[in-house]
Parts: sequence; structure tokens; C-alpha cells
Amino acid sequence: MSVASYLEKNNARFLQELVDLLRIPSVSADPKFKADVVKAANFVKNSLEKAGADLVEICETPGFPIVYGEKIIDPALPTVLVYGHYDVQPADPYELWDSPPFEPVLKKTAIHPEGAIFARGAADDKGQFYMHIKAFEAMMATSNLPCNVKFMIEGEEEIGSDNLDKFVLANKERLKADVILISDTHMIGMQDPSITVGLRGMAYMEVEVTGPNRDLHSGTYGGAVANPINVLCKMIASLKDENEHITIPGFYEKVQELSVAQRQRLNEAPFDLSEYKGKLDIQEVHGEKGYTTIERVGIRPTLDVNGIWGGYTGEGAKTVLPSKAFAKISMRLVPDQDWHEIAILFENHFKAIAPASVSVKVKAHHGGAPAVVSDSSLGYQAAEAAMEETFGKRPIPTREGGSIPIVALFQKELGSDPILFGFGLDTDALHSPNEHYGVKNYLIGIETIAAFFRHFSTLHGR
Ligand code: BES
Ligand code: MN
Ligand code: MN
Repeated sequence: MSVASYLEKNNARFLQELVDLLRIPSVSADPKFKADVVKAANFVKNSLEKAGADLVEICETPGFPIVYGEKIIDPALPTVLVYGHYDVQPADPYELWDSPPFEPVLKKTAIHPEGAIFARGAADDKGQFYMHIKAFEAMMATSNLPCNVKFMIEGEEEIGSDNLDKFVLANKERLKADVILISDTHMIGMQDPSITVGLRGMAYMEVEVTGPNRDLHSGTYGGAVANPINVLCKMIASLKDENEHITIPGFYEKVQELSVAQRQRLNEAPFDLSEYKGKLDIQEVHGEKGYTTIERVGIRPTLDVNGIWGGYTGEGAKTVLPSKAFAKISMRLVPDQDWHEIAILFENHFKAIAPASVSVKVKAHHGGAPAVVSDSSLGYQAAEAAMEETFGKRPIPTREGGSIPIVALFQKELGSDPILFGFGLDTDALHSPNEHYGVKNYLIGIETIAAFFRHFSTLHGR
């Protein structure tokens, strides 16, 4: 039987299995879901075994386990390493979901007329890494696996992949491969296939601003003692100037500027600004002066407040001058910014701009390096050929604004090309309420991954 007919025959089961995986609330950030994260790891282990992988192992770490499995059919053949993550973002706020986040439902949308599965993790990343296990199953079942394959599926991507770093460093030999396939990004659209060749890095900070030693009556003290929330807002506002340029000294020092030709090529990607605004219900976009939206996201660093709190936020009104104010602030970074350096620059600057009326604490949570991958490697060529075959159109290279911190480590330590072979769309609501993944994206993804293996082996002269 051909891979294509096996896929066609098993489509319904492939979807059902994904639904079963999506039912497990594997939220790595929330200790309440610890047992479920482990349950998802076991689900991945079982599905790798059923698909035909050998040496399937739950590799324990100080955090959540990494699931490993492989099929080495002939050491002389090229080897593909598949990376993905079975953990998901918290689903909060639950009340903004149209259906419960861990009770997957199939619904049609304007963008997904064939239907999409709505659940936390549908596109990020369960629906995407599971395509690889199903493509592998199909190739195994039809005796069509043309390359060796290794799987490494982790459970801590959404909290910074700290333990994966150590695992990769300790298992370089075991993870040796000719290419690394990662489906955890977007493509422009079903009619506009694309392959991601750039990801931003990140430095995630938390700040605490303390004013008086206790909450005060805002009448007795207001106007005479610094309000830490007012101060924090002013400090945050000063982090960007009127051109949305970040004011932290040294912040741009290592930023790689692209050539005019490179920028022009980037901006040739299909992009409709009014459609972009329409989908977000915004009247105008916003960002660093002198750059297009594509550039602001793809090649420029930025700084955003992810959350800010303090004082009274309950029902009704309470007149209080709070003692403390807090904020979580992330910076998205581009080559060659180093997140450890940026975290220090931020901390020094944030302390320097604090008025004497408050004291400031700054803490770095996690970070990750930006990455740019080749658009001419053998792996890229195979991915290009595979997409051209299944989508009927040659994919274009794009740069995305999100981060997968482990990609840069893969490049540095494993020396093989990572291919960011994502099949989701930016409207799939990753990290948002009502996350979903198109059924068609899922099925064409499986088909395209199988095609990748065939092209990759052919390009290796097999
Ligand atoms: N899959 C995303 C990254 C992504 C999304 C890349 C869309 C390109 C397009 C990944 O799971 C993720 O969310 N990463 C985090 C970073 C992590 C350190 C928490 C991110 O980008 O916020
Ligand atoms: Mn992801
Ligand atoms: Mn994510």
C-alpha cells in the first residue's frame, strides 16, 4: 500500500487520537496539572511504540520528562530528528472560551471551512508534533520509511526548556542527525505555504516597585508620598521613545541590521494590512518607526508588558495608596542579542531610572536565543519540495516573531539544520482562548512530512 492510501484510510482514527491527546490538560506552568503533564508524556510514549519506534523511553529530568524513541533502519541512511512539545499554555481565562479548553470540539470557521479542532494545545504543539508520529506510522506500516528517525518530545517548552538544554548536552551522540524537523510555527496560509527561517529570542523579566512600607489611606497620604503604581507606569512608559525605539542603553548594540535587498525580499511575502487589522479589530497598527509590520515582527526586537498589578482591583472602590506595584515584562530579541546581556542591561537601566521615592527589585525569569536558519540546506530543499508537492505551490521563507529557545542550542550543539516545518496559521489563536488547528492543516501536514522524508532521502542520493 502507498503512504497516501494508508493516510486516506486512517484519517478518522488519526483525528480521534489527537482529540484523545488534547483531552489531557498538560499545563506545564501550573503545578495543579503535574499528573496530567506526566500522563501526556505516557500518551506520547505509547503512541511512539504503537507506531513502530524502538528504544522508546521516558527520560526523567528534574522537571517534566522528555520522551525519546527512534527507528534506525540502516545506519548508512540519513537520520531525521523530530522535536516537539507535549506541554501546553495555561487555558485561563476559561470564561473566554466558547467550549471547554480540554474538551475538544470540531467546528467550521471562515478560515477553516473543513473544520478545526478547538482545544488548548491543538496547534501549539500537540496537533503539530502528533503529525510526525502519524507520518512515521504510515511510512512504517507501508514499508516506506526511507530515513532513520529519532523523536524527542519534551514537556517544558512553554516554561523555557531548561532541562532540555542539559538533556541535549548530555546526549549529543544519541541525538545525532542530519536534519531536525520541528513543526511548532505558522505558515502564511493554505494558499501561501511558507517555511519559517527566523525566530526571535526572549528575555522575560519581573519587576517589583516598593513605595511606603504599608498600604496607605490615599487621602491622608495621596500627593505627598510616591504611589508605586504611578511610578511603575511612568518608568514603563519611558522604556520606549516617541518612535517606539527602546531606550535601554546598549539594547540595540548587537542587533543585526539587514541589507536593503534582504528587507525587500522579506516584504515581498503576501501580506494584507487591512485584513490584518480587520482580523484583530484594530484601526491602526503600531510599532517602531521606519519598519513595516512584517519587519517589526520578524527582524526587530521589542518590549512588552505581559501583566501589571498592585493595589485594589476587587469590586467597587477602595481608596488606597498601595505599598507595592508589579509587572512582568518580556523583550523579544533578534540576532545577535544575548538574553543574559539584555537582562542585565534591563536591570541596570530599570534601577537607574527609579526615583528615590521607591525601591526596585528586578528578576529575570527565563530567556532564549534568537535563531536564523538556512534557506538553502538539503533539509530546506527537501521541505520546499515536499510542500510544493502537497500544496501545489513553492513555499517562501519567512521570519516569525515567536520563540523556540532550543532551536539556537540545536544549531550550536548538534550542528544539524533545524527546519521549522509548521502548518498552523497565525489566526489559530495560540496561547489565546479558542485555540484551534485546522483538520486540513493536520492531514496535509502528515502527508507533507511523509513527502519530506522521501525528498530528503532522494537528495541524499538514495
Ligand atoms: N510554538 C511557540 C513559538 C512560536 C509560535 C513560534 C508562533 C513561531 C510562531 C512556542 O510554543 C512558544 O510559545 N514559545 C514561547 C517562548 C517560551 C520561552 C515560553 C513564546 O514564543 O512566547
Ligand atoms: Mn509551541
Ligand atoms: Mn507556545
